[in-house]
Amino acid sequence: MPLVNPQKMLEAARDGGYCVGAFNIVDFLSIEAVVAAAEATRAPVMLQTSSGVIKKFGVRKLVAMARLAADHSPVPVALHLDHGTDVKVLSEAIKAGYSSVMIDASEHPFEKNVAITKSVVEEAHAAGVSVEGEVGRVVGVEDDIVVHQDDAIYTTPEEALEFQRRTGVDFLAAAIGTAHGFYKVEPKLNIDTLRKIRAQATFPLVVHGGTGLPFEVIQELVRAGATKMNLSTQIKKTYIDGLYDYIAAKRTEYDIIKVLAHAKSELVTMISGYIEVLGGAGKAE
Ligand code: 13P
Repeated sequence: MPLVNPQKMLEAARDGGYCVGAFNIVDFLSIEAVVAAAEATRAPVMLQTSSGVIKKFGVRKLVAMARLAADHSPVPVALHLDHGTDVKVLSEAIKAGYSSVMIDASEHPFEKNVAITKSVVEEAHAAGVSVEGEVGRVVGVEDDIVVHQDDAIYTTPEEALEFQRRTGVDFLAAAIGTAHGFYKVEPKLNIDTLRKIRAQATFPLVVHGGTGLPFEVIQELVRAGATKMNLSTQIKKTYIDGLYDYIAAKRTEYDIIKVLAHAKSELVTMISGYIEVLGGAGKAE
């Protein structure tokens, strides 16, 4: 089916108490792997592109690749721009056919974050595109965005609700102690903040930094109200490990299709596992 706006799938997840996996893709093979995992588990799914991937391919090529995979699939697939900081790029993505975008103006003070986010919401909504915003600051490294532990800002329920009300974002990333990249120390999670926002909010909530969280913690986050969970670093790890492992075991194999097929199959297995843990399996029906 054609790419879908993720708003309905996220609202269904919020009402149904499960979570939609949002997976950062890096090329067409990883797009195919995410869609194949969604098909295998019959789950709605979101493809996400980071600033690095956008720099490499450009938004038009990414939309074309996502459409190619989604058009032939029976499950709902959305294409989301992850951590957009450049309003020009966001505007290009909106015009090119992304189904949703994230404006990340969280490096700015609250009022400036509200103003920038609101302007992106106006443009996106006029084009039928949904918007994710961020309040508080998620730590770690996500391509060009580097936030040190000392600069972490935990979101409070009050500011989350005020931010959404004033900006009109469709879903909101709350900084609750998860981080981008591998965890070097055990994260201190504020799961209660998520619960409190969920109790008062009508909009879906996003948790970043899925890589490295134990599955039981992910399930607790889903029970607390996470309706979109982002996974990026684990995609890169599984992809690269898959290539290394195959090549190490068969150093004289020069059929590149077999090498790539192995990495893809490892990705499908890993992503399907996350979809199951998030509770999204069977929810495409
Ligand atoms: P991880 O790289 O920790 O999985 O985080 C992904 C993310 O939150 C992308 O926005």
